Amino acid sequence: MAQAKKLFIRTYGCQMNVYDSERMAEALGASGYVATERPEDADMILLNTCHIREKAAEKVYSELGRLKPLKTANPDLKIGVAGCVAQAEGAEIMRRAPLVDLVVGPQTYHRLPAMEAAVRNGARAVDTEFPEEDKFAHLPKGPRASRGPAAFLTVQEGCDKFCAFCVVPYTRGAEASRPAARVLAEARDLVDRGVREITLLGQNVNAYHGEGPDGADWSLARLIDTLARIDGLARIRFTTSHPNDMRDDLIEAFASQPKLMPYLHLPVQSGSDRILKRMNRKHTAESYVAIIDRLRAARPDLALSGDFIVGFPGETDADFEDTLALVRRVGYGQAYSFKYSARPGTPAAERRDTVADAVASERLARLQALLTEQQRAAQDAMVGCCVSVLFEKPGRMPGQMVGKSDHLHAVHVTDPRATPGTIAPVRITASAPNSLAGELL
Ligand code: SAH
Ligand code: SF4
Ligand code: F3S
Repeated sequence: MAQAKKLFIRTYGCQMNVYDSERMAEALGASGYVATERPEDADMILLNTCHIREKAAEKVYSELGRLKPLKTANPDLKIGVAGCVAQAEGAEIMRRAPLVDLVVGPQTYHRLPAMEAAVRNGARAVDTEFPEEDKFAHLPKGPRASRGPAAFLTVQEGCDKFCAFCVVPYTRGAEASRPAARVLAEARDLVDRGVREITLLGQNVNAYHGEGPDGADWSLARLIDTLARIDGLARIRFTTSHPNDMRDDLIEAFASQPKLMPYLHLPVQSGSDRILKRMNRKHTAESYVAIIDRLRAARPDLALSGDFIVGFPGETDADFEDTLALVRRVGYGQAYSFKYSARPGTPAAERRDTVADAVASERLARLQALLTEQQRAAQDAMVGCCVSVLFEKPGRMPGQMVGKSDHLHAVHVTDPRATPGTIAPVRITASAPNSLAGELL
C-alpha cells in the first residue's frame, strides 16, 4: 500500500475556520491524507486564513515567507491558502506568492480533492466562487475518527447585515442556513464519536432559519430543542449572535432548556448611538441593554460576553465614555475588544474622519482594563461555588485535567476520576487570571 500523504493545516480567525479546517482535513482524508502536527513532514500545507483585521490578513504573507525553505527542501510539497483572505485576495496571493499552489475560498472547499489532484499534476488552482450547491452536502467523507468531548457544528453561514466596518459579508457571502435534518444527523454522528457538548456556529447564528423535516422554517430555538433530545448530548451552546436576531423563543430557551448552557456572546461594538448608526448596526445601546435585561430575567446567572471596536471613524471622547458606561451597566464575564482596522472594500474604509492611532490605543487600554476587572470579579465570585465541569483534556501539570464549566470558565482539577468526557461537580478553590482551580466533589 502506498504511504499516506501528510497534511498540515494552520488555522487563523474564528471558530468557523476551526470547523472548516476539520472538514477540509476529512475531505482530503478521502484522498489518502492523514494529519500531521509537523509542517516539515507535510506533503500539503494549508493556511486557513482570516481577513477581519489588517494584522490578521498580513499574517498570511509572513507565514508564506516562513514556508519557503520547506518548499525548497521538498519541491513536491504543495501549499494552499484557504479561508477569508483566500476569498478576498485570491488572485493577489497567486501573483505575490509564486510558492502557493492552490487558493480555495470558504464556500468551495468541497472541491479540494479535485484541486489537490490538479496541483499534483503541476497545475496551480484557484476557486473562490460562491457556488449554487451546498458545500456541506458535497463534502467527501474521510475515515470516521473518534472525537474529543466538545465540538463545533456550523449551522448558518454568511451575513447580510453589512456593518460598515466588516468584511464578513464579502468573504463568506450571503446568509444561508443548513437544513435541520442535516444538522441533526451531523450532531448524532458527533455524539456517536464521543462528543458531549456541541457549539452551534454561524456568523449570525441566531438568524438561523433552516428548513425543518416538516417543511417549515425552524428557528434556532426549535433546532436547539430538537438537538437536546439526542441522548448522550449533554450541553449545547451557540455563537455568534446579533442583537437584532435575539427572538423571544431563543430568550425563553435560556429559561426552559436545561441543556442550553448559561453563556452568551452578544457583540454590541459600541455604547454610543451616534457611532452605532455610523457602523450600520441597526440597533441602539438602549435596545441592546433591554435584550440583556430580558435574557437575565430568563436566566439570572447568564454569563455575558461581547465584542467592542474602539476608534471607529468619528468616535469622540464622549462616544467612548458611552461605551465604558454600557460595559459598566451590562457587566461582562469576558469580552473581546479591538482597535478599528480599515478594511479595503468596506464603506467605513472610505471615511476621512479617522481617529488618531495613539487615541485609539489609549481607549483600547482603558476599555480592556475595565473588561479585565469585570472578568476577574466574575471569576473570583466562583471561588467556594460548586460548578459542573465537562473535562476535555490533560492540563499542563502532571495528573491535571482541564474542562469547562457551564459558564465557560476553564477549570483545572487534579484527580484520577476526572477523565475526558465526564461531567462532574467541582468545588472551586482558586481563581487565576484565565482559569479556575477546584476539586471534585
Ligand atoms: N458576526 C459576528 C462578528 C464577526 S467578526 C457579529 O456580528 O458579532 C468578530 C468581531 O471582530 C466583530 O464583532 C468586531 O468586534 C470585530 N471586527 C470586525 N471588523 C473589524 C474591523 N474592521 N476592525 C476591528 N474590529 C473588527
Ligand atoms: Fe460583520 Fe456585522 Fe455581519 Fe457581524 S453582523 S458578520 S459584524 S457585518
Ligand atoms: Fe476571520 Fe473569516 Fe472568521 S474574516 S473572523 S475567518 S469569518
